[in-house]
Amino acid sequence: MKVETKAVHGFKGYDPATGALSFPIYQSATFKHPGLNQSTGYSYSRDQNPTREEVEKTVALLESGKHCLAFSSGMAAVDVLLKTFSPGDHFIVSEDLYGGTYRLFEQNRKYGLDFTYLDTFHTEQVKAAIKNNTRCIYLETPSNPTMKVTDIGALVELARNAGILTVVDNTFLTPYFQRPLEHGADAVIHSGTKYLGGHNDTLAGFLVVSDEKMGEDLKLLQMSTGATLSPFDSWLVLRGIKTLGVRMIKCQQNAMLIAGWLKRHKKVERVYYIGLPEHEGYDISLKQAAGFGGMISFTVKDTGLVEQILGKVRLISFAESLGGVESLITYPLIQTHADIPKEILERLGITDRLLRLSVGIEDVEDLIEDLEQAMR
Ligand SMILES: Cc1ncc(COP(=O)(O)O)c(C=O)c1O
Repeated sequence: MKVETKAVHGFKGYDPATGALSFPIYQSATFKHPGLNQSTGYSYSRDQNPTREEVEKTVALLESGKHCLAFSSGMAAVDVLLKTFSPGDHFIVSEDLYGGTYRLFEQNRKYGLDFTYLDTFHTEQVKAAIKNNTRCIYLETPSNPTMKVTDIGALVELARNAGILTVVDNTFLTPYFQRPLEHGADAVIHSGTKYLGGHNDTLAGFLVVSDEKMGEDLKLLQMSTGATLSPFDSWLVLRGIKTLGVRMIKCQQNAMLIAGWLKRHKKVERVYYIGLPEHEGYDISLKQAAGFGGMISFTVKDTGLVEQILGKVRLISFAESLGGVESLITYPLIQTHADIPKEILERLGITDRLLRLSVGIEDVEDLIEDLEQAMR
């Protein structure tokens, strides 16, 4: 079955008890037991809830994984993943990374975890950075916000040989375009707040794995720490996922046209979009993904233009986040990446002239017209 069909029909896809085609919101904290040593399969919603279970199993299905845990945000998912490691463990991390993930990693140094940030596009740099205590390679591909692409398969090969786990944050491309577990990755992370939810109306996070032991360990940690996805938010994400396929196609179509338009604009210096053939990761993308997604970053030649654009856009909202039906424009330097040290930002090209666009599903001519008037 193709991923589009899986997205529409979900895991069970309907409520077997009533036939309700929209999977019900089981708004209950606890579940009545029929008798001693008897159970309906549910006891307390922090442990498991039927609506959360449906979204977890749906995301597992989409990512070709066996186990999925749903959390109240993407960061809660990353936090639980970190708790599976021990003091002294070392991580190699994509240096161009969502700022919140960087902040959480740095906060975990006090618990004895160590992190090396580098450009994971260069496999040989990753190889050189592996130490005796390296336990995890943590990737964002494409990365946030400069859209660097990493060859997942190449790093998996390196990592496997050294007994290291490979974890991929798949928020930008979603399982519709890229399924890292199929390339040998050990775990996939999502900010479900983004394309999976798709409507800028809820926060969510997912962790997907295939290994039984890892699945059990994560499930226990999810239950113990308690930042689980609520029944209503699980339902919102389930509903969002139904249209994942059509949204991803439309976002990509729009992004492709906008990236081309930006490239020709005389006030634009550089466009970062992985669907452009001149992108350094283009061939890797063709190999490991079925599409390029809807995220674009670009630099303008004049710093002064940034404030003008952010103030003048009408249809496109100046707001943090991405992956919803509405187009958003973000200023990474002061928003998503505010916690990253200045020297790293400079090295990555996250300057005061860089803007990030999350292209939505509006009519592309309207979006271009909006950008045109904002840049005039
Ligand atoms: C790539 C990526 N990963 C993880 C996160 C964190 O997700 P959340 O905001 O749902 O906690 C974000 C948030 O912007 C993100 O962009």
